[in-house]
Amino acid sequence: METTYTINERVAAIQPSLTLAITSRAKEMAATGCKVCSFAAGEPDFDTPEPIRNAAVQALARGETRYTPESGLLTLRQAVCAKLMRENGLSYEPDQVVISNGAKHSLSLLFTMLCRPGDEVIIPGPFWLSYPEMVNVAGGKPVPVVCAESSGFKLSPEKLESVITPRSKVLILNSPCNPTGIVYDESELRALVEVAVRHGLLIVSDEIYEKMVYDGVRHVSPASFSPETYAHTVTVNGFSKAFAMTGWRLGYLAAPRPLAKAAGALQSHLASAPNTFAQHGAVQALQGGDEAARHMVSAFEKRRNTLLERLNGIAGITCVRPSGAFYAFPNIRQFKLDSITFCQRLLEEKAVAAIPGKVFGSDDNIRLSYACSLEIIQEGMDRLGRFVASL
Ligand SMILES: Cc1ncc(COP(=O)(O)O)c(C=O)c1O
Repeated sequence: METTYTINERVAAIQPSLTLAITSRAKEMAATGCKVCSFAAGEPDFDTPEPIRNAAVQALARGETRYTPESGLLTLRQAVCAKLMRENGLSYEPDQVVISNGAKHSLSLLFTMLCRPGDEVIIPGPFWLSYPEMVNVAGGKPVPVVCAESSGFKLSPEKLESVITPRSKVLILNSPCNPTGIVYDESELRALVEVAVRHGLLIVSDEIYEKMVYDGVRHVSPASFSPETYAHTVTVNGFSKAFAMTGWRLGYLAAPRPLAKAAGALQSHLASAPNTFAQHGAVQALQGGDEAARHMVSAFEKRRNTLLERLNGIAGITCVRPSGAFYAFPNIRQFKLDSITFCQRLLEEKAVAAIPGKVFGSDDNIRLSYACSLEIIQEGMDRLGRFVASL
């Protein structure tokens, strides 16, 4: 008998990733000998620092190859608690922390737990493209609120208040932000959090880029504002960006106990636990990886400065100054091409890979990742300048 199956509508509706399409076309071009300048990657171009790699290798050599507890190794959860206290002023116990296979996995566990059919999740935009997809798959309703470039891409408390309905359940905050690189200052965050708490929303604070802040800007964690905000916030973070550990697949959430307990139970059935020897490497990252992280951040800051200087020199392009993460989100409206056509032509005609802003909620922009060398930045901006001059 013929097999019949249907993919349920929540999964069938997932959009194929344009980011991946651009990246694979860029790789195809590179394989034919073309020198592509890629600004597409969402990952540091550094290797994981050696002491972290050694810690994982030693764990493997010791035979650390069995399942850990479902919420992760106790020593790693203790190291996360110490980090959250030291760097974020947050007091969590290990039973409030769940280690997962990347911050992305932590977020998807959260939305799966929190969304009942039709529950609304407010997503300030331009936003990381995976948030709406994860909410959709969980059966919730993403409510993107794309903020104007003239407001520095920032959500105001008034705007937040205006989109809240009786179905609103969650507010996502992502500072520093992918794709814009903007960072909310403490007073801006406090004002947003006040509105969210007053309406009984849970705040999911995605702090994966917290260490990448420039110009003396300080990252602050919303959960640290008061006991009330602590009770209304789940803090999500990970190892991928700060310690160049994208392929290790490790992230975590810290939450009020009932939420952490539910996330651990859900994870136990979906993934059993995160990779054991990778977790041993992550303990080393938290206990001894700060200097390596600072070194990478200072390289990112130099690259950002070069990229901005070059972008500002290209007639017709404007760019909100990014003070965090490793992305810039320049405006290309002047050239009267939608962002997908702009990026396709830029790749085909000048071998420069960038991500169309449309996937992040703004068709007037493109995303440039500066997690690449200064040479690529210089050459890529020469080519971008020539491309826009040809339009
Ligand atoms: C805003 C944001 N959150 C979370 C993640 C997920 O990171 P990971 O799953 O590698 O920890 C990313 C990765 O690109 C991101 O940009």
